[in-house]
Amino acid sequence: MQNFTFHNPTKLIFGKGQIEQLKQEIPKYGKKVLLVYGGGSIKRNGLYDQVMNILNELAVEVFELPGVEPNPRLSTVHKGVDICKKENIEFLLAVGGGSVIDCTKAIAAGAKYDGDPWDFITKKTTVTEALPFGTILTLAATGSEMNSGSVITNWETKEKYGWGSPVTFPQFSILDPTYTLTVPKDHTIYGIVDMMSHVFEQYFHNVKNTPLQDRMCEAVLRTVMETAPKLVNDLENYELRETILYCGTIALNGFLQMGLRGDWATHRIEHAVSAVYDIPHAGGLAILFPNWMKHVLDENVARFKQLAIRVFDVNPEGKSDREVALEGIEKLREFWSSIGAPSRLADYGIGEENLELMADKAMAHDELGRFKPLNRDDVLAILRASL
Ligand code: NZQ
Ligand code: ZN
Repeated sequence: MQNFTFHNPTKLIFGKGQIEQLKQEIPKYGKKVLLVYGGGSIKRNGLYDQVMNILNELAVEVFELPGVEPNPRLSTVHKGVDICKKENIEFLLAVGGGSVIDCTKAIAAGAKYDGDPWDFITKKTTVTEALPFGTILTLAATGSEMNSGSVITNWETKEKYGWGSPVTFPQFSILDPTYTLTVPKDHTIYGIVDMMSHVFEQYFHNVKNTPLQDRMCEAVLRTVMETAPKLVNDLENYELRETILYCGTIALNGFLQMGLRGDWATHRIEHAVSAVYDIPHAGGLAILFPNWMKHVLDENVARFKQLAIRVFDVNPEGKSDREVALEGIEKLREFWSSIGAPSRLADYGIGEENLELMADKAMAHDELGRFKPLNRDDVLAILRASL
Protein backbone atom coordinates (compact mmCIF):
# COMPACT_ATOMS: atom_id res chain seq x y z
CA MET A 1 0.00 0.00 0.00
CA GLN A 2 0.98 3.63 -0.31
CA ASN A 3 1.03 5.81 2.79
CA PHE A 4 -2.23 7.65 3.25
CA THR A 5 -4.17 10.05 5.44
CA PHE A 6 -7.92 9.63 5.29
CA HIS A 7 -10.23 12.46 6.23
CA ASN A 8 -13.83 12.66 5.08
CA PRO A 9 -15.72 15.28 7.10
CA THR A 10 -19.18 14.80 5.53
CA LYS A 11 -21.87 13.77 7.99
CA LEU A 12 -23.90 11.05 6.28
CA ILE A 13 -27.56 10.98 7.35
CA PHE A 14 -29.18 7.92 5.83
CA GLY A 15 -32.71 6.51 5.82
CA LYS A 16 -36.42 7.11 5.70
CA GLY A 17 -37.64 10.37 7.19
CA GLN A 18 -34.15 11.70 7.84
CA ILE A 19 -35.06 15.03 6.25
CA GLU A 20 -36.23 16.00 9.74
CA GLN A 21 -32.57 16.39 10.65
CA LEU A 22 -32.44 19.54 8.51
CA LYS A 23 -34.01 21.19 11.54
CA GLN A 24 -30.88 20.55 13.59
CA GLU A 25 -28.34 21.04 10.80
CA ILE A 26 -29.36 24.26 9.03
CA PRO A 27 -29.38 26.56 12.09
CA LYS A 28 -25.69 25.76 12.64
CA TYR A 29 -24.78 27.64 9.49
CA GLY A 30 -26.90 30.76 9.24
CA LYS A 31 -30.16 32.37 8.30
CA LYS A 32 -29.67 33.07 4.59
CA VAL A 33 -29.88 29.94 2.46
CA LEU A 34 -29.52 29.42 -1.28
CA LEU A 35 -31.59 26.42 -2.38
CA VAL A 36 -30.08 24.88 -5.52
CA TYR A 37 -32.03 22.37 -7.63
CA GLY A 38 -32.49 21.01 -11.13
CA GLY A 39 -35.13 21.00 -13.82
CA GLY A 40 -38.17 20.26 -11.71
CA SER A 41 -38.10 16.62 -10.57
CA ILE A 42 -38.17 17.76 -6.92
CA LYS A 43 -41.30 19.80 -7.57
CA ARG A 44 -43.04 16.86 -9.25
CA ASN A 45 -42.29 14.38 -6.45
CA GLY A 46 -43.12 16.69 -3.55
CA LEU A 47 -39.61 17.02 -2.10
CA TYR A 48 -39.45 20.74 -2.84
CA ASP A 49 -42.54 21.37 -0.69
CA GLN A 50 -41.14 19.25 2.13
CA VAL A 51 -37.86 21.19 2.12
CA MET A 52 -39.58 24.56 1.92
CA ASN A 53 -41.88 23.70 4.82
CA ILE A 54 -38.88 22.93 7.00
CA LEU A 55 -36.98 26.04 5.89
CA ASN A 56 -40.04 28.18 6.59
CA GLU A 57 -40.44 26.58 9.99
CA LEU A 58 -36.81 27.49 10.71
CA ALA A 59 -37.57 31.07 9.61
CA VAL A 60 -34.55 31.21 7.33
CA GLU A 61 -34.51 33.54 4.35
CA VAL A 62 -34.53 31.37 1.22
CA PHE A 63 -33.13 32.32 -2.17
CA GLU A 64 -33.47 29.90 -5.07
CA LEU A 65 -31.36 28.76 -8.00
CA PRO A 66 -33.50 26.37 -10.06
CA GLY A 67 -32.66 24.88 -13.45
CA VAL A 68 -29.23 23.31 -12.88
CA GLU A 69 -28.68 21.22 -16.01
CA PRO A 70 -27.52 17.60 -16.18
CA ASN A 71 -23.81 18.17 -16.98
CA PRO A 72 -24.00 21.48 -15.07
CA ARG A 73 -22.79 24.55 -16.87
CA LEU A 74 -20.38 27.29 -15.90
CA SER A 75 -23.05 29.89 -16.77
CA THR A 76 -25.24 28.44 -13.99
CA VAL A 77 -22.33 28.53 -11.56
CA HIS A 78 -21.96 32.24 -12.40
CA LYS A 79 -25.64 32.84 -11.63
CA GLY A 80 -25.32 31.13 -8.26
CA VAL A 81 -22.14 33.01 -7.33
CA ASP A 82 -23.84 36.32 -8.21
CA ILE A 83 -26.74 35.53 -5.87
CA CYS A 84 -24.38 34.50 -3.06
CA LYS A 85 -22.32 37.67 -3.33
CA LYS A 86 -25.26 40.04 -3.76
CA GLU A 87 -27.41 38.55 -1.00
CA ASN A 88 -24.65 37.55 1.45
CA ILE A 89 -25.74 33.93 1.42
CA GLU A 90 -24.48 31.95 4.44
CA PHE A 91 -25.35 28.38 3.48
CA LEU A 92 -26.23 26.45 0.34
CA LEU A 93 -28.60 23.50 0.19
CA ALA A 94 -28.35 21.29 -2.89
CA VAL A 95 -31.41 19.14 -3.56
CA GLY A 96 -30.96 16.81 -6.51
CA GLY A 97 -28.55 14.50 -8.29
CA GLY A 98 -24.82 14.78 -8.89
CA SER A 99 -25.22 17.71 -11.27
CA VAL A 100 -26.98 19.87 -8.67
CA ILE A 101 -24.43 18.94 -6.01
CA ASP A 102 -21.44 19.55 -8.31
CA CYS A 103 -22.81 22.93 -9.32
CA THR A 104 -23.36 23.83 -5.66
CA LYS A 105 -19.73 22.98 -4.86
CA ALA A 106 -18.51 25.35 -7.57
CA ILE A 107 -20.89 28.09 -6.38
CA ALA A 108 -19.82 27.61 -2.74
CA ALA A 109 -16.15 28.04 -3.69
CA GLY A 110 -16.87 30.75 -6.26
CA ALA A 111 -18.68 32.81 -3.64
CA LYS A 112 -15.41 33.12 -1.73
CA TYR A 113 -13.24 33.72 -4.80
CA ASP A 114 -12.61 37.06 -6.49
CA GLY A 115 -12.12 35.88 -10.07
CA ASP A 116 -13.98 33.55 -12.43
CA PRO A 117 -14.65 30.05 -10.98
CA TRP A 118 -13.33 28.64 -14.28
CA ASP A 119 -9.86 29.49 -12.89
CA PHE A 120 -10.10 26.86 -10.15
CA ILE A 121 -12.16 24.42 -12.23
CA THR A 122 -9.29 24.37 -14.75
CA LYS A 123 -6.80 24.19 -11.87
CA LYS A 124 -5.08 27.49 -12.73
CA THR A 125 -5.50 28.25 -9.05
CA THR A 126 -6.69 26.42 -5.95
CA VAL A 127 -9.42 27.53 -3.60
CA THR A 128 -8.84 27.79 0.12
CA GLU A 129 -12.34 28.72 1.26
CA ALA A 130 -15.94 27.91 0.41
CA LEU A 131 -19.36 28.64 1.83
CA PRO A 132 -20.69 25.68 3.81
CA PHE A 133 -23.29 23.56 2.04
CA GLY A 134 -25.41 20.47 2.62
CA THR A 135 -27.15 18.13 0.22
CA ILE A 136 -30.31 16.09 -0.12
CA LEU A 137 -29.52 13.45 -2.71
CA THR A 138 -32.21 12.29 -5.15
CA LEU A 139 -30.24 10.02 -7.51
CA ALA A 140 -27.77 7.23 -6.70
CA ALA A 141 -24.78 7.59 -9.02
CA THR A 142 -21.90 9.98 -8.59
CA GLY A 143 -20.91 9.82 -4.92
CA SER A 144 -20.75 13.62 -4.99
CA GLU A 145 -22.82 13.61 -1.79
CA MET A 146 -19.82 12.38 0.18
CA ASN A 147 -16.80 13.54 -1.77
CA SER A 148 -15.20 16.85 -2.63
CA GLY A 149 -15.29 16.44 -6.41
CA SER A 150 -17.27 18.49 -8.90
CA VAL A 151 -17.53 18.33 -12.68
CA ILE A 152 -18.46 21.48 -14.61
CA THR A 153 -18.97 22.12 -18.32
CA ASN A 154 -18.06 25.32 -20.13
CA TRP A 155 -20.54 25.04 -22.95
CA GLU A 156 -19.02 27.97 -24.88
CA THR A 157 -15.63 26.29 -25.20
CA LYS A 158 -17.05 22.74 -25.02
CA GLU A 159 -14.80 21.78 -22.12
CA LYS A 160 -15.80 19.62 -19.15
CA TYR A 161 -13.45 19.22 -16.20
CA GLY A 162 -13.45 17.65 -12.78
CA TRP A 163 -11.92 19.53 -9.87
CA GLY A 164 -12.13 19.37 -6.10
CA SER A 165 -10.76 20.77 -2.89
CA PRO A 166 -10.65 19.83 0.79
CA VAL A 167 -13.04 22.77 1.34
CA THR A 168 -15.75 21.36 -0.96
CA PHE A 169 -16.96 18.38 1.05
CA PRO A 170 -20.64 18.73 1.98
CA GLN A 171 -21.16 19.48 5.67
CA PHE A 172 -23.91 16.88 5.67
CA SER A 173 -25.81 14.79 3.15
CA ILE A 174 -29.29 13.42 3.67
CA LEU A 175 -29.89 10.16 1.78
CA ASP A 176 -33.46 8.93 1.95
CA PRO A 177 -34.07 6.12 -0.56
CA THR A 178 -37.69 7.34 -0.82
CA TYR A 179 -36.49 10.32 -2.88
CA THR A 180 -34.90 8.03 -5.44
CA LEU A 181 -38.10 6.03 -6.11
CA THR A 182 -39.07 8.44 -8.90
CA VAL A 183 -35.78 8.25 -10.83
CA PRO A 184 -36.75 7.05 -14.32
CA LYS A 185 -35.41 3.79 -15.72
CA ASP A 186 -32.74 5.37 -17.95
CA HIS A 187 -31.17 7.40 -15.14
CA THR A 188 -31.42 4.43 -12.79
CA ILE A 189 -29.37 2.44 -15.30
CA TYR A 190 -26.89 5.29 -15.76
CA GLY A 191 -26.45 5.53 -12.00
CA ILE A 192 -25.67 1.82 -11.78
CA VAL A 193 -23.10 2.06 -14.58
CA ASP A 194 -21.53 5.16 -13.00
CA MET A 195 -21.03 3.61 -9.56
CA MET A 196 -19.61 0.40 -11.05
CA SER A 197 -17.26 2.51 -13.17
CA HIS A 198 -16.06 4.36 -10.07
CA VAL A 199 -15.12 1.02 -8.56
CA PHE A 200 -13.28 -0.06 -11.73
CA GLU A 201 -11.33 3.22 -11.78
CA GLN A 202 -10.06 2.38 -8.29
CA TYR A 203 -9.61 -1.36 -8.83
CA PHE A 204 -7.11 -0.82 -11.63
CA HIS A 205 -3.92 0.51 -10.10
CA ASN A 206 -0.30 -0.57 -9.85
CA VAL A 207 0.10 -0.57 -6.08
CA LYS A 208 1.10 -3.87 -4.48
CA ASN A 209 -0.59 -5.52 -1.51
CA THR A 210 -4.14 -4.19 -1.49
CA PRO A 211 -6.10 -7.34 -0.59
CA LEU A 212 -8.76 -5.61 1.50
CA GLN A 213 -9.20 -2.81 -1.03
CA ASP A 214 -9.65 -5.45 -3.75
CA ARG A 215 -12.25 -7.34 -1.73
CA MET A 216 -14.13 -4.17 -0.84
CA CYS A 217 -14.29 -3.20 -4.52
CA GLU A 218 -15.44 -6.69 -5.45
CA ALA A 219 -18.11 -6.62 -2.73
CA VAL A 220 -19.55 -3.36 -4.04
CA LEU A 221 -19.54 -4.66 -7.62
CA ARG A 222 -21.18 -7.95 -6.69
CA THR A 223 -23.82 -6.20 -4.60
CA VAL A 224 -24.65 -3.78 -7.40
CA MET A 225 -24.81 -6.61 -9.96
CA GLU A 226 -27.07 -8.66 -7.70
CA THR A 227 -29.43 -5.72 -7.11
CA ALA A 228 -29.48 -3.87 -10.44
CA PRO A 229 -31.34 -6.40 -12.63
CA LYS A 230 -34.13 -6.56 -10.04
CA LEU A 231 -34.27 -2.80 -9.62
CA VAL A 232 -34.57 -1.92 -13.32
CA ASN A 233 -37.74 -4.04 -13.39
CA ASP A 234 -39.09 -2.84 -10.05
CA LEU A 235 -38.24 0.85 -9.87
CA GLU A 236 -40.34 1.62 -6.81
CA ASN A 237 -38.86 -1.11 -4.61
CA TYR A 238 -37.59 0.69 -1.50
CA GLU A 239 -35.11 -1.96 -0.39
CA LEU A 240 -33.47 -2.25 -3.80
CA ARG A 241 -33.22 1.56 -3.98
CA GLU A 242 -31.73 1.59 -0.48
CA THR A 243 -29.02 -0.90 -1.43
CA ILE A 244 -28.09 0.94 -4.62
CA LEU A 245 -28.06 4.31 -2.86
CA TYR A 246 -25.61 3.04 -0.26
CA CYS A 247 -23.44 1.38 -2.93
CA GLY A 248 -23.21 4.63 -4.90
CA THR A 249 -21.90 6.53 -1.89
CA ILE A 250 -19.38 3.86 -0.84
CA ALA A 251 -18.12 3.60 -4.43
CA LEU A 252 -16.73 7.13 -4.40
CA ASN A 253 -16.33 8.50 -0.90
CA GLY A 254 -12.65 7.59 -0.58
CA PHE A 255 -13.13 4.28 1.29
CA LEU A 256 -12.04 2.17 -1.69
CA GLN A 257 -9.11 4.37 -2.56
CA MET A 258 -7.17 4.31 0.72
CA GLY A 259 -3.55 3.31 0.12
CA LEU A 260 -3.69 3.52 -3.66
CA ARG A 261 -4.40 5.88 -6.54
CA GLY A 262 -6.88 4.76 -9.17
CA ASP A 263 -6.60 5.12 -12.94
CA TRP A 264 -9.42 7.55 -13.94
CA ALA A 265 -8.50 7.74 -17.64
CA THR A 266 -11.91 6.45 -18.76
CA HIS A 267 -13.64 9.21 -16.80
CA ARG A 268 -11.43 11.83 -18.43
CA ILE A 269 -12.15 10.44 -21.89
CA GLU A 270 -15.88 10.34 -21.13
CA HIS A 271 -15.82 13.94 -19.94
CA ALA A 272 -14.31 14.86 -23.31
CA VAL A 273 -17.13 13.00 -25.08
CA SER A 274 -19.90 14.59 -23.02
CA ALA A 275 -18.27 18.03 -23.37
CA VAL A 276 -18.69 17.79 -27.13
CA TYR A 277 -22.00 15.91 -27.29
CA ASP A 278 -23.77 16.55 -23.96
CA ILE A 279 -24.64 12.86 -23.50
CA PRO A 280 -25.31 11.41 -20.03
CA HIS A 281 -22.01 10.77 -18.24
CA ALA A 282 -22.63 7.09 -17.56
CA GLY A 283 -23.98 6.45 -21.04
CA GLY A 284 -20.50 7.39 -22.22
CA LEU A 285 -18.86 5.25 -19.54
CA ALA A 286 -20.88 2.15 -20.50
CA ILE A 287 -19.60 2.52 -24.05
CA LEU A 288 -15.98 3.31 -23.23
CA PHE A 289 -15.07 1.20 -20.21
CA PRO A 290 -14.94 -2.30 -21.74
CA ASN A 291 -12.93 -0.85 -24.63
CA TRP A 292 -10.48 0.80 -22.23
CA MET A 293 -10.19 -2.55 -20.43
CA LYS A 294 -9.31 -4.41 -23.62
CA HIS A 295 -6.83 -1.68 -24.57
CA VAL A 296 -4.89 -1.87 -21.29
CA LEU A 297 -5.40 -5.56 -20.49
CA ASP A 298 -1.79 -6.59 -21.10
CA GLU A 299 -0.57 -4.12 -18.51
CA ASN A 300 -1.63 -6.56 -15.77
CA VAL A 301 -3.51 -9.63 -17.01
CA ALA A 302 -3.54 -11.13 -13.51
CA ARG A 303 -5.62 -8.26 -12.19
CA PHE A 304 -8.21 -8.64 -14.94
CA LYS A 305 -8.24 -12.39 -14.35
CA GLN A 306 -8.92 -11.82 -10.64
CA LEU A 307 -11.85 -9.55 -11.52
CA ALA A 308 -13.20 -12.07 -14.04
CA ILE A 309 -13.17 -14.92 -11.52
CA ARG A 310 -14.22 -13.10 -8.38
CA VAL A 311 -16.87 -10.77 -9.81
CA PHE A 312 -18.02 -12.28 -13.09
CA ASP A 313 -17.75 -15.95 -12.01
CA VAL A 314 -15.66 -16.92 -15.03
CA ASN A 315 -14.53 -20.57 -14.83
CA PRO A 316 -10.77 -20.55 -15.50
CA GLU A 317 -10.44 -24.26 -16.24
CA GLY A 318 -8.62 -25.06 -19.46
CA LYS A 319 -8.22 -21.37 -20.35
CA SER A 320 -5.18 -19.11 -20.51
CA ASP A 321 -5.04 -16.16 -18.10
CA ARG A 322 -5.68 -13.79 -21.00
CA GLU A 323 -8.75 -15.76 -22.12
CA VAL A 324 -10.17 -15.65 -18.60
CA ALA A 325 -9.53 -11.91 -18.40
CA LEU A 326 -11.16 -11.26 -21.77
CA GLU A 327 -14.17 -13.36 -20.84
CA GLY A 328 -14.61 -11.17 -17.75
CA ILE A 329 -14.62 -8.04 -19.91
CA GLU A 330 -17.18 -9.61 -22.24
CA LYS A 331 -19.34 -10.49 -19.24
CA LEU A 332 -19.25 -6.87 -18.11
CA ARG A 333 -20.41 -5.75 -21.56
CA GLU A 334 -23.17 -8.39 -21.50
CA PHE A 335 -24.27 -7.33 -18.01
CA TRP A 336 -24.53 -3.65 -18.93
CA SER A 337 -26.40 -4.51 -22.15
CA SER A 338 -28.75 -6.78 -20.20
CA ILE A 339 -29.88 -3.90 -17.97
CA GLY A 340 -30.28 -1.57 -20.95
CA ALA A 341 -27.07 0.49 -21.06
CA PRO A 342 -25.72 1.66 -24.44
CA SER A 343 -22.67 -0.04 -25.96
CA ARG A 344 -21.65 2.09 -28.95
CA LEU A 345 -21.18 5.81 -29.60
CA ALA A 346 -23.51 5.24 -32.56
CA ASP A 347 -26.28 4.67 -29.99
CA TYR A 348 -26.09 8.46 -29.44
CA GLY A 349 -25.64 9.21 -33.15
CA ILE A 350 -21.93 9.91 -32.64
CA GLY A 351 -19.69 9.06 -35.61
CA GLU A 352 -16.08 9.69 -36.54
CA GLU A 353 -16.46 13.43 -37.07
CA ASN A 354 -15.06 14.68 -33.74
CA LEU A 355 -12.75 11.90 -32.60
CA GLU A 356 -9.62 14.05 -32.91
CA LEU A 357 -11.24 16.92 -31.03
CA MET A 358 -12.34 14.59 -28.21
CA ALA A 359 -8.86 13.08 -28.01
CA ASP A 360 -7.35 16.58 -27.70
CA LYS A 361 -9.75 17.44 -24.90
CA ALA A 362 -9.05 14.21 -23.04
CA MET A 363 -5.30 14.95 -23.22
CA ALA A 364 -5.62 18.52 -21.90
CA HIS A 365 -4.03 19.34 -18.53
CA ASP A 366 -2.60 16.50 -16.41
CA GLU A 367 -1.25 13.12 -17.43
CA LEU A 368 -3.95 10.66 -18.44
CA GLY A 369 -4.23 7.31 -16.65
CA ARG A 370 -2.17 5.79 -13.83
CA PHE A 371 -2.73 2.04 -14.27
CA LYS A 372 -1.50 2.65 -17.80
CA PRO A 373 -0.55 6.16 -18.88
CA LEU A 374 -2.27 6.87 -22.19
CA ASN A 375 -1.12 9.00 -25.10
CA ARG A 376 -3.29 10.62 -27.75
CA ASP A 377 -3.08 7.56 -30.03
CA ASP A 378 -4.29 5.32 -27.20
CA VAL A 379 -7.29 7.61 -26.67
CA LEU A 380 -8.06 7.60 -30.39
CA ALA A 381 -7.86 3.79 -30.46
CA ILE A 382 -10.30 3.51 -27.53
CA LEU A 383 -12.68 6.02 -29.14
CA ARG A 384 -12.50 4.22 -32.50
CA ALA A 385 -13.21 0.87 -30.85
CA SER A 386 -16.27 2.54 -29.27
CA LEU A 387 -17.84 3.75 -32.54
O1 NZQ B 1 -32.91 18.19 -13.11
P1 NZQ B 1 -33.98 17.37 -12.49
O2 NZQ B 1 -35.35 17.79 -12.86
O3 NZQ B 1 -33.82 17.18 -11.02
O4 NZQ B 1 -33.86 15.89 -13.19
C1 NZQ B 1 -32.72 15.07 -13.07
C2 NZQ B 1 -31.91 15.00 -14.37
O5 NZQ B 1 -32.72 15.20 -15.48
C3 NZQ B 1 -33.18 13.65 -12.91
N1 NZQ B 1 -33.46 13.28 -11.52
C4 NZQ B 1 -32.63 13.39 -10.45
N2 NZQ B 1 -33.23 12.89 -9.36
C5 NZQ B 1 -34.46 12.49 -9.72
C6 NZQ B 1 -34.62 12.75 -11.10
N3 NZQ B 1 -35.75 12.47 -11.76
C7 NZQ B 1 -36.77 11.93 -11.06
N4 NZQ B 1 -36.69 11.64 -9.74
C8 NZQ B 1 -35.56 11.91 -9.04
N5 NZQ B 1 -35.49 11.59 -7.74
O6 NZQ B 1 -32.10 12.86 -13.39
C9 NZQ B 1 -31.43 13.56 -14.42
C10 NZQ B 1 -29.94 13.41 -14.24
O7 NZQ B 1 -29.51 14.06 -13.06
P2 NZQ B 1 -27.96 14.35 -12.82
O8 NZQ B 1 -27.82 15.04 -11.53
O9 NZQ B 1 -27.37 14.99 -14.03
O10 NZQ B 1 -27.36 12.86 -12.74
P3 NZQ B 1 -26.12 12.30 -11.99
O11 NZQ B 1 -26.35 12.22 -10.54
O12 NZQ B 1 -25.78 11.06 -12.70
O13 NZQ B 1 -24.96 13.41 -12.20
C11 NZQ B 1 -24.25 13.47 -13.41
C12 NZQ B 1 -23.16 14.54 -13.33
O14 NZQ B 1 -22.21 14.23 -12.30
C13 NZQ B 1 -20.87 14.25 -12.85
C14 NZQ B 1 -21.11 13.84 -14.28
O15 NZQ B 1 -20.03 14.14 -15.12
C15 NZQ B 1 -22.37 14.62 -14.63
O16 NZQ B 1 -22.05 15.96 -14.95
N6 NZQ B 1 -20.00 13.41 -12.01
C16 NZQ B 1 -19.67 13.85 -10.80
C17 NZQ B 1 -18.82 13.15 -9.95
C18 NZQ B 1 -18.46 13.65 -8.60
N7 NZQ B 1 -18.83 14.85 -8.24
O17 NZQ B 1 -17.79 12.97 -7.83
C19 NZQ B 1 -18.22 11.89 -10.35
C20 NZQ B 1 -18.88 11.27 -11.53
O18 NZQ B 1 -17.96 10.42 -12.13
C21 NZQ B 1 -19.40 12.22 -12.56
O19 NZQ B 1 -18.40 12.60 -13.49
ZN1 ZN C 1 -18.62 8.80 -12.93
